[in-house]
Amino acid sequence: GSAEIGLIGLGTMGGNLALNIAENGFSIAVFNRTADKADSFHASAGALADKIVPTKTLEDFVAAIKSPRAIILMVPAGDAVDAQIAALRPLLDPQDLIIDAGNANYHDTNRRDEEAKAAGARFMGIGVSGGEEGARFGPSIMAGGPADGWDQVGHVLEAISAKHGDVPCAAHLGDAGAGHLVKTVHNGIEYADMQMIAEVYGVMRDGFGMTSAEIAEVFEGWNGGILQSYLIEISGKVARATDPETGRPMLDIILDKAGQKGTGRWTAIEALMLGTPASAIEAAVAARNLSARLDERKMGEAVFGAAPQASDKAVIATQMLEAALVAGKIICYAQGFGLILEAAKQYGWAMPLPEIAKIWREGCIIRSAMLNDMADALAEDPSRNLMLAPFFSAKLSETHDALRKVVAEGALKGLPVPALSAALSYFDIMRTERSTANMLQGQRDFFGAHGFERTDKDGSGYHGPWAMNAS
Ligand code: 6PG
Repeated sequence: GSAEIGLIGLGTMGGNLALNIAENGFSIAVFNRTADKADSFHASAGALADKIVPTKTLEDFVAAIKSPRAIILMVPAGDAVDAQIAALRPLLDPQDLIIDAGNANYHDTNRRDEEAKAAGARFMGIGVSGGEEGARFGPSIMAGGPADGWDQVGHVLEAISAKHGDVPCAAHLGDAGAGHLVKTVHNGIEYADMQMIAEVYGVMRDGFGMTSAEIAEVFEGWNGGILQSYLIEISGKVARATDPETGRPMLDIILDKAGQKGTGRWTAIEALMLGTPASAIEAAVAARNLSARLDERKMGEAVFGAAPQASDKAVIATQMLEAALVAGKIICYAQGFGLILEAAKQYGWAMPLPEIAKIWREGCIIRSAMLNDMADALAEDPSRNLMLAPFFSAKLSETHDALRKVVAEGALKGLPVPALSAALSYFDIMRTERSTANMLQGQRDFFGAHGFERTDKDGSGYHGPWAMNAS
């Protein structure tokens, strides 16, 4: 075969990725489970068609690719990936490389990596962010797997990725599931970023009684400042849009029930499993789960009455909402990077944190101006909590008071701000040397003789006086 790479799965994401690869000058063999799809895809590829080799059977597909082969899978995450690997392996040589580019759970990627190694084969898992647009014109690519796999396909992935200046937003982050873990955390941060924007939207809508158009103007203004980001930009566009059918603001028509495919939830699960605090992300996942319970919320409002009361703009100005978002954002990224650091330790993965911040600067859903400063801060010291880096500690010092006022106003007026609240609590805990866990330790020792450490002596396993009084 002569194709430089192969791709299986011509859905929207896979098709766009294939076009992106072809456009960057690489010849690519394509295959789809429904075999006719490869032909129709080829026929509709226009000027890129001569870079695309459509194939109708897996055998023809494999034969069309130059050895050692690199094959990208873009099929639905889960069983379909295992089925595809099982069908493909017998047709491949040991040095061939299978690359799963779907939104896999990184535990599955770890397992597939082990299975491949046991069979003397090679497997990579890469996280691809940026939606359909990104896949076609430049996604952010988070790669995990063997280093020689990256040596083989890194130049292709860098070529098709988004660029920040001329720096590719694609990098090899560690072995096995490292790339998919980072993509998962990306999505957890995405959930928190989105949720916190939705919360300040709520303060403006229900607290200030602002119209969607007025709110759009606020987001548009913020996008010219420190919060400049794709998510703030599209929030402005969503708030600005009018429903063509009714002429009403689109936001007033959209049902307030949010879906999820699972990656944000996986981040919260991983945080709990690894014992690392990601409370703002967890709150964002919980908020989505709550949003889905529309019927229950309806009954709750009937019983308790609607909560939101008018909020005084003199107390909470929109600039204060902006500052609160800045603080919340710094904290949720501190939690996300902390989670990645913990996973790196657990699995012995490289996980270059500054590199991760850099490849998130363009192409992905959470791309923002602030990631540039995060890359710098993480380069100074990757193992330090991001909120303690001088640049961000200065920003937090300027903004945490606004975060507090917004959360307090939300509590007083009944405007739910769960992710911002979680971020504030995290901040308050992390700035307090003497916490209240001495009480927890006392309780644990009381009922279970679990022992504690003392503030005035070295060592552990001390007990309180209740132990001897117990019997
Ligand atoms: C991306 C997105 C993409 C997708 C997620 C989130 O990085 O391009 O995160 O992967 O939108 O699956 O979807 P849910 O909100 O449905 O979980």
